[in-house]
Amino acid sequence: MAFPLLLCVLVCSYCSVALGGNEHGFVVVPTSSFVPAAACSTPIGVGNPDPTRASVPLAHRHGPCAPKGSSATDKKKPSFAERLRSDRARADHILRKASGRRMMSEGGGASIPTYLGGFVDSLEYVVTLGIGTPAVQQTVLIDTGSDLSWVQCKPCNASDCYPQKDPLFDPSKSSTFATIPCASDACKQLPVDGYDNGCTNNTSGMPPQCGYAIEYGNGAITEGVYSTETLALGSSAVVKSFRFGCGSDQHGPYDKFDGLLGLGGAPESLVSQTASVYGGAFSYCLPPLNSGAGFLTLGAPNSTNNSNSGFVFTPMHAFSPKIATFYVVTLTGISVGGKALDIPPAVFAKGNIVDSGTVITGIPTTAYKALRTAFRSAMAEYPLLPPADSALDTCYNFTGHGTVTVPKVALTFVGGATVDLDVPSGVLVEDCLAFADAGDGSFGIIGNVNTRTIEVLYDSGKGHLGFRAGAC
Ligand SMILES: *[C@@H]1O[C@H](CO)[C@@H](O)[C@H](O)[C@H]1NC(C)=O
Ligand SMILES: *[C@@H]1O[C@H](CO)[C@@H](O)[C@H](O)[C@H]1NC(C)=O
Ligand SMILES: *[C@@H]1O[C@H](CO)[C@@H](O)[C@H](O)[C@H]1NC(C)=O
Ligand SMILES: *[C@@H]1O[C@H](CO)[C@@H](O)[C@H](O)[C@H]1NC(C)=O
Ligand SMILES: *[C@@H]1O[C@H](CO)[C@@H](O)[C@H](O)[C@H]1NC(C)=O
Ligand SMILES: *[C@@H]1O[C@H](CO)[C@@H](O)[C@H](O)[C@H]1NC(C)=O
Repeated sequence: MAFPLLLCVLVCSYCSVALGGNEHGFVVVPTSSFVPAAACSTPIGVGNPDPTRASVPLAHRHGPCAPKGSSATDKKKPSFAERLRSDRARADHILRKASGRRMMSEGGGASIPTYLGGFVDSLEYVVTLGIGTPAVQQTVLIDTGSDLSWVQCKPCNASDCYPQKDPLFDPSKSSTFATIPCASDACKQLPVDGYDNGCTNNTSGMPPQCGYAIEYGNGAITEGVYSTETLALGSSAVVKSFRFGCGSDQHGPYDKFDGLLGLGGAPESLVSQTASVYGGAFSYCLPPLNSGAGFLTLGAPNSTNNSNSGFVFTPMHAFSPKIATFYVVTLTGISVGGKALDIPPAVFAKGNIVDSGTVITGIPTTAYKALRTAFRSAMAEYPLLPPADSALDTCYNFTGHGTVTVPKVALTFVGGATVDLDVPSGVLVEDCLAFADAGDGSFGIIGNVNTRTIEVLYDSGKGHLGFRAGAC
């Protein structure tokens, strides 16, 4: 009886070879899964039993798990075209900065160089943290493209603070709040070009304080006093004397969130400040469209006892000593439908910045063209839409299809780490291939769509980036 079975296996593997591995290179997905879920599902991976790590739930700020009272309940959700515009601007901004061109304010007039990677209004994911003693909840954007964290603080004029989800954080109600003295190392170490730091002169009898000012790429600003406070992550983890900006003057395109959590690699970030406890490591899982909750975790799983066995790793380094914010890895290849594309790895040699705040992955022209050709050919049965946008030129009309057969797309990085993107949430965004042409000879950016459902572990301590599929 074993003989027919063996024959079958042989025939099938022959088929699969003859078809170039297509048997396993496609996923059939119901088109209903392309639509965001109406209700929030419970996050997996939070309440992580590993006591050496700290996790909090994470949500898309316009998704089903967005904290109540945030913009999810507004009718003001930006259109896809608007999101793409700010996404393009963020990516351009990061790449200009990476290519070393000095950037002055694009808002006109002001002369603060825009230190930070991107645009605050392009950031998409939020976490809720406790700040102060007693802790009050604040919902903040997460950003791997910037470092200094801040929340809007009381007192703040209606004209100086934008309307936000939660009551303003009131430092006078917290027993652990302190301002950072001008003469302290922490204040002196704030880079002048980055945070326009300086001492506030005595006002109303208060001693001078360490001021900070940040201007983001789109002209949004925050100014206030560099301060320390107790930060609670989830139910158990506490970061004492966390340095953050107590913002008293915010202008620009801000939207409801209470502040920002900087996860870049420079000394001001949460990751760097907690490196002695968490080893300079953090991870997140961005939820797929049809679910809701993901997580943000500080610390890496223990490699000594193989707790990290679900991950594949590739070397990661800071962009440069002067631009420590950005995390860089290097792609070596892409496959579509299980077939490696014919792209010389040298095309990717400049590296790729991994950014939580950029939506669409940008890759060099040569690689993009190869990917687009293979993807379109694998999707030939669905009509292409005329490009609605200059960057996204591979968008489909799935009307009338109950299911869609989508090729798997896998990214391979230096060292051979290969990550299968989730289908469809990691490959398609609004029915478009979630990749764009970044130009030849340019840095690439790995955007957030590609990493949906995957735990991405940034471990500066170990100098590597890990991917764990199916994490949320
Ligand atoms: C590995 O160590 C971590 C703590 O570092 C612990 O939480 C976890 O349960 C351990 N896993 C195994 C399989 O022993
Ligand atoms: C409030 O706003 C006014 C005008 O915009 C300004 O003159 C004043 O200094 C502000 N007060 C505080 C406490 O920031
Ligand atoms: C603070 O005071 C010093 C000396 O009085 C003065 O030179 C400086 O311009 C003041 N700075 C601000 C921000 O007012
Ligand atoms: C600021 O005010 C405090 C308290 O009034 C005073 O002791 C200190 O000398 C003042 N500092 C400056 C630079 O004026
Ligand atoms: C990792 O696991 C090993 C073996 O179980 C244990 O000896 C070590 O203390 C753990 N490390 C941490 C940071 O918990
Ligand atoms: C998509 O296809 C449907 C059915 O074939 C058609 O009616 C519709 O006009 C198409 N939409 C666009 C935007 O082309």
